[in-house]
Amino acid sequence: MPSILITGANRGLGLEFARQYAEDGWTVIAAVRNTADAAELAAIKGNVTIHRYNAMEDSSADALAASLEGQPIDVVLMNAATAAAKAKPLDALTIDDWNDALLTNTFAPLYLAARLRPNLEAGEMKTLVAVSDRAASTSTYRMPDEIAYRASKAALNQMWRNLTVEWREWGCKCLLLCPVEAASTLTAPQPLSGEAVSGMRGLIETATPDKSGTFSDYRGNTVPW
Ligand SMILES: NC(=O)c1ccc[n+]([C@@H]2O[C@H](COP(=O)([O-])OP(=O)(O)OC[C@H]3O[C@@H](n4cnc5c(N)ncnc54)[C@H](OP(=O)(O)O)[C@@H]3O)[C@@H](O)[C@H]2O)c1
Repeated sequence: MPSILITGANRGLGLEFARQYAEDGWTVIAAVRNTADAAELAAIKGNVTIHRYNAMEDSSADALAASLEGQPIDVVLMNAATAAAKAKPLDALTIDDWNDALLTNTFAPLYLAARLRPNLEAGEMKTLVAVSDRAASTSTYRMPDEIAYRASKAALNQMWRNLTVEWREWGCKCLLLCPVEAASTLTAPQPLSGEAVSGMRGLIETATPDKSGTFSDYRGNTVPW
């Protein structure tokens, strides 16, 4: 069965991804900030291993990659993110807020992807996924706030486009997925995480090389840049 590494697998969408993939018999490598605070993850039946990973520490990504050396991984799913500064208006944002958002949501996925490249190259599916957000869409998004979060996800998208070009030579498919409908209004109900996750899984498992570098919602609709 295929294998997947999921960051932020202890709660929210990451936990749901881990649940669904484990249920389908995949090997799940769950990367979480606090391994002692992952009871729901630990209770999942199947081939799930739990590893420590703090996106704010490059040594943590190095250690995770070292522990997985020589192990092929089909899909790497960068799901962990912080939205801590999401509600802050411009005049309340601090340098620490920017650092947290840009390190966790933008640089950390790129750093970890670079460390796990040998594992992806050795895997069959060679699929690198980032969970982004329609808030990254500079052409369509009209919210007045969420400044640091939006900037971090827009920058993440740009980094993934870079990887799409740089890693095309060895067949890596770099996907950007959004768990919320691209066209939904701000007041529309959000999808259940189970529905969003199964939609994104369908896109991950059927991805072809021409999908590399695309930005889609969980239903497969394009999210404008
Ligand atoms: N939910 C939505 O409606 C929605 C909409 C659009 C996009 N997204 C995106 O979907 C992804 C998952 O969202 P979610 O709603 O499931 O988020 P969530 O419930 O807030 O969970 C965030 C996950 O990221 C982890 N994380 C945060 N900072 C970390 C760090 N420094 N090191 C390691 N892990 C860290 C958290 O770990 P801890 O438990 O240790 O904090 C947690 O596992 C995110 O990328 C988010 O931007 C979500």
